[in-house]
Amino acid sequence: MAAFSAALLILSAVLTTSIAHNISHILSQNPEFSTFNHYLTLTRLASEIDRHNTITVLAVNNAAMDDLIAKDLSIYTVKNILSLHVLVDYFDAKKLHQITNGTALVSTLFQATGSAPGASGLVNITDLRGGKVGFGANDNGGTLPAVYVKSVKEIQYNISVIQISQIIPSVAAEAPTPAPSKQNLTAIMSKHGCKIFADTLFNSSEAYNIFTDNIDGGLTIFCPADDAFKGFLPKFKNLTAAGQIALLEFHGVPIYQSIANLKSNNGVMNTLATDGAEKYDFTVQNDGDEITLKTKLVTAKITNTILDEQPLAIYTISKVLLPEELFKSEAPSASPAPAPEPTPADAPAPQADKKKKKKAADAPSDDNSDTPAESPGDAADDDADDSGAGRFRGIGVLVLALIFGILMV
Ligand SMILES: *[C@@H]1O[C@H](CO)[C@@H](O)[C@H](O)[C@H]1NC(C)=O
Ligand SMILES: *[C@@H]1O[C@H](CO)[C@@H](O)[C@H](O)[C@H]1NC(C)=O
Ligand SMILES: *[C@@H]1O[C@H](CO)[C@@H](O)[C@H](O)[C@H]1NC(C)=O
Ligand SMILES: *[C@@H]1O[C@H](CO)[C@@H](O)[C@H](O)[C@H]1NC(C)=O
Ligand SMILES: *[C@@H]1O[C@H](CO)[C@@H](O)[C@H](O)[C@H]1NC(C)=O
Ligand SMILES: *[C@@H]1O[C@H](CO)[C@@H](O)[C@H](O)[C@H]1NC(C)=O
Ligand SMILES: *[C@@H]1O[C@H](CO)[C@@H](O)[C@H](O)[C@H]1NC(C)=O
Repeated sequence: MAAFSAALLILSAVLTTSIAHNISHILSQNPEFSTFNHYLTLTRLASEIDRHNTITVLAVNNAAMDDLIAKDLSIYTVKNILSLHVLVDYFDAKKLHQITNGTALVSTLFQATGSAPGASGLVNITDLRGGKVGFGANDNGGTLPAVYVKSVKEIQYNISVIQISQIIPSVAAEAPTPAPSKQNLTAIMSKHGCKIFADTLFNSSEAYNIFTDNIDGGLTIFCPADDAFKGFLPKFKNLTAAGQIALLEFHGVPIYQSIANLKSNNGVMNTLATDGAEKYDFTVQNDGDEITLKTKLVTAKITNTILDEQPLAIYTISKVLLPEELFKSEAPSASPAPAPEPTPADAPAPQADKKKKKKAADAPSDDNSDTPAESPGDAADDDADDSGAGRFRGIGVLVLALIFGILMV
């Protein structure tokens, strides 16, 4: 019985860790933050905040938001400004009033985007006389125009929402921001751990142009992290010129897919490489908080959001996506039928015709690697995996506890 309740306790612990905070919900309790809340959703900062633990949101009331809206800035600029109001550290009322040495420079989501020049994405928090706490952008000539008003919500060490008196002015955050379609794809990806994929894409003007031509109509890019793509480069170089373009195009989807869309839509997704009978598709599948992309040869995880602003989304993935059209020899089944759950027992079909053999010979041979675990880019998994591994261990403990509970009965 004791073991059983222990198992239940662990079960509830596992369940609570998978339920993240919901900033939209927290702010919706208080109508004076409705405009701020609305803009967090519009700029998609809300989902970014929900994905972070140990975070502080500096909220302003509707009157302060009206001052910002009156400046008639583009939504991309508003996003930069609001992301300066999300501190990637936990500051509740108590911690704010007891800062070591009375002052601190704190990193923000704006600093994390890479669009903040130098250290302009840092916020200076300083304890002032009379119990006041001042906030200013690091690039704002030493002034601290915003002050602490009150604590809105504290979930200890996970998320704190604090009201401050006004939007923190910042020259860098208020600078005009180009729309995504005018952005330099390779530069954005290079800055965020996808440099090798970005360089390879940039090198192929045909594939690069197809990507950029699709931005305005909606584009989602899944870029393999550097560790994954580096290990894959020898195989990439082995592909024919057409194969290289198809492999790159396979990592783009000609519609805009936000994280929320991906989370709520499991299923097959066509790519930029899809061309009539040449399917070049993969399956999106949610596994708890994790979003995976599956081909018959590989299962990759989305590990990071680089950009999520309609019409363009860019995510990092843990592995290179291998289309079966290019890597037939490695496929567990040569059957073109979309078997949703290929079992490892599915041996390569023996009836491969001449054309298939020719293609198979073109493809890099990685003999009998019919399990996704042997796919290239596997090495990247260990690094890219922290959160998933944590949860997996949690589930392992749960299973052990349940078994233990059953044994005790
Ligand atoms: C904070 O987050 C951690 C990790 O996700 C979780 O274990 C903990 O229960 C959370 N704390 C609260 C008070 O929700
Ligand atoms: C968060 O809360 C908002 C408002 O209460 C709700 O509309 C939304 O569905 C919630 N999001 C999630 C992921 O639960
Ligand atoms: C506080 O100030 C002392 C003396 O100037 C310095 O050595 C120390 O690093 C400071 N601590 C922090 C957290 O800034
Ligand atoms: C924050 O700004 C105040 C006022 O300009 C300044 O005195 C202080 O040194 C700054 N703090 C840090 C950590 O830079
Ligand atoms: C995009 O950035 C890359 C470097 O990351 C640079 O080589 C290239 O010239 C840039 N393209 C444009 C159109 O600015
Ligand atoms: C770019 O293409 C050139 C010539 O095709 C090749 O030598 C070079 O290695 C390529 N660079 C990358 C990063 O793929
Ligand atoms: C490249 O292709 C050749 C011939 O098809 C093959 O022998 C070799 O193992 C391949 N190399 C890699 C790295 O896949």
